[in-house]
Amino acid sequence: MNLREAIEASLEFEKKIRDHYKVSAEKAKSPGGKKFFAYLAKEEEGHVAYLKKMSEEFNKAGVVPDEPLSTIFTRSEWVIEGESGMKANEEKHSYEGEMERLLAALELEEDATRHYEKLAGSLGPEGKKLFGRFLEIEDTHTALVRAEVDYFNRSGYFYDFPEFSMESME
Ligand SMILES: [Fe+2]
Ligand SMILES: [Fe+2]
Repeated sequence: MNLREAIEASLEFEKKIRDHYKVSAEKAKSPGGKKFFAYLAKEEEGHVAYLKKMSEEFNKAGVVPDEPLSTIFTRSEWVIEGESGMKANEEKHSYEGEMERLLAALELEEDATRHYEKLAGSLGPEGKKLFGRFLEIEDTHTALVRAEVDYFNRSGYFYDFPEFSMESME
């Protein structure tokens, strides 16, 4: 796989993940779930836009432009402590389907991490720079989704991360 093919393959991958989060946000019954999935949908949408731009520029100039890729999830480790709420048991039933969507998200993020790991290590300095950054971010997503899965498992509802605010995403 050359750099151009790697960018195209990554673009398709990011679209798939974005669509998963978009649908999950639409289907989520709880506000916490909606918010969680919507954040990730927005972040992955940013990846789609970024890679589209990289693809266009690369096709024109033959080099990947030097443009930073930012993220709204700045911490690389995510653990949610404590608080497993009594009301959770009552709510659990109505949130069916949420766990499946969370687990599907976890699988996609793990796949993305492996995908970028491979690309970052096999396409020279340019590939290492571009895909190494994606690797960092997707690794963080994996940790974040895993933390949410753990929390949901324990409590039956979504953890509403106070660290993120809609404003910081604009
Ligand atoms: Fe992504
Ligand atoms: Fe991701």
